[in-house]
Amino acid sequence: MRHFLQFRDFSADEIGHLIKRTRVIKERFKNYVAYQPLVDRMLAMVFEKSSTRTRVSFEAGMFQLGGASIVLNMGDTQLGRGEPIEDVARVVSRMVDIVMIRTFEQSIIERFAAHSRVPVINGLTNEYHPCQVLADIYTFVEHRGPIAGKTVAWIGDSNNMCNTWLQAATLLDFKLNVSSPQGYELEPARATGVGRNHLELFSDPMAAARGADLVTTDVWTSMGWEEEAGARKDAFAAFTVDAEMMAAARKEALFMHCLPAHRGEEVSAEVLDGPQSVVWDEAENRLHAQKALMEYLLLGRVET
Ligand code: CP
Ligand code: NVA
Repeated sequence: MRHFLQFRDFSADEIGHLIKRTRVIKERFKNYVAYQPLVDRMLAMVFEKSSTRTRVSFEAGMFQLGGASIVLNMGDTQLGRGEPIEDVARVVSRMVDIVMIRTFEQSIIERFAAHSRVPVINGLTNEYHPCQVLADIYTFVEHRGPIAGKTVAWIGDSNNMCNTWLQAATLLDFKLNVSSPQGYELEPARATGVGRNHLELFSDPMAAARGADLVTTDVWTSMGWEEEAGARKDAFAAFTVDAEMMAAARKEALFMHCLPAHRGEEVSAEVLDGPQSVVWDEAENRLHAQKALMEYLLLGRVET
């Protein structure tokens, strides 16, 4: 049994398989060809933080694959009244076939997985957001072909998305340029052992964007850090991805954002709604990529 708790839980070959399957599953769906290999399978989703895309894409995806899903929100389950995560894992995983969790510390999802009888998927933790980066890599490949050898510029907070992009860069052999404000930089331990061909740190965001094939950013204040929002607004003021920053990147560079976005903060409206932005494709591709992921975790390597 496999889990997808962080991007590097899978090999480059497995990510390649998922990219291939995402394309097949998306094409079938777009052509109204029913594909229901997961009839009678049940997905449980545990949410300790808010969500729009993750919830809709997993629920719609599981339904389209022939299965069904249950949503458990922290506030209306026994988790919210202090039931240990290990016990919830033992119970829920005896009743469903696969579990997705969105929670706070990575250690919570690891404890859940350690006591689960079924595959567990990380639907976002403080540290990682692997389903989003899987969809983002697929989106890049769909628009521009293989990502190996390319340069991705991460502008802004060294958060769960940034950490996941870094894992993807080392696994799939592309370069990540990271530029974050002082005090919000990548934890040094994450860069340990990562070569210069996979990670370069910049204090100047314009320098990080220079020559990039993809420029990407995220909110200045992630879920769980709300009380820092004021201080972060000041610290991140020079880190807005705007037309000038996009002009430093390659002419054919794409812009990505996992959403939700704040126009005028981490990205200008002109860029988010402009021709280089593929944010709506990224959001849609969550649906297709996660269907490929659930197929793989439940059925193994399907090639048909
Ligand atoms: N990008 C993303 O995970 O969106 P939600 O928070 O809406 O699920
Ligand atoms: N970094 C953001 C992503 C939201 C999808 C957060 O964790 O809130």
